[in-house]
Amino acid sequence: MHQLRSVYSFRSKIMHWLVAIIVLSLLVFGFNLSRMPKTMKFTAIMFHKSFGLTVLALMLFRIIFILRDGRPSLPSTTPCWEKLLARFVQYGLYALLILMPLSGWIMSVAAGYVPKYFGLVAIPFPGIEKNIQLANLMKASHKTLAWIIVAFVVLHLLGNIKHYFLDKDTVVQTMLFKGNNRMKIKG
Ligand code: HEM
Repeated sequence: MHQLRSVYSFRSKIMHWLVAIIVLSLLVFGFNLSRMPKTMKFTAIMFHKSFGLTVLALMLFRIIFILRDGRPSLPSTTPCWEKLLARFVQYGLYALLILMPLSGWIMSVAAGYVPKYFGLVAIPFPGIEKNIQLANLMKASHKTLAWIIVAFVVLHLLGNIKHYFLDKDTVVQTMLFKGNNRMKIKG
């Protein structure tokens, strides 16, 4: 059984903030890909795919670290419905941030454009070949998932704002690098 800690482990924090920065950039640049000048589009899509695949790898590490290091529990003062909602949003984000790169990857491969990781190595999707119908389905899924991620990120931010400004507890601090960062093992 893994241990519960009063703050996230250092490596879990690194993963959280790295994924957050990359995903927010991918969303902003992704929604603006079609408006980009043709000369930049090819490179922009190559970087989009490469960073997107990086998110997939980072999410796998993130899940391994959470399973191995444990996670802080919410304060006992937090109402049950709020605990359930918080966990639903967190697990939902984990699932979405795995499905999102998968849909982009399958879309690209099925459209006949196997991603080349930072222009270096081609990364085919096992078992997927050119299939325009599948590419269109994945393109629609990629767009829908992007908006669902936006909604979940907003909920996630609202939850943190509530903890910090209304409840005035230390939930937000469990993911920050400053302050009490010692890992107290509760049991
Ligand atoms: C967490 C990871 C990712 C995020 C947040 C993300 C986000 C986005 C967003 C917001 C769009 C614009 C959607 C639209 O308005 O139609 C987009 C488009 C696109 N994404 Fe991603 N993406 C991710 C991963 C990937 C990956 C791994 C690939 C491929 C390997 C990929 C390939 C593409 C392509 C090719 C488009 C352009 C689709 C088109 O309109 O033709 N994405 N992405």
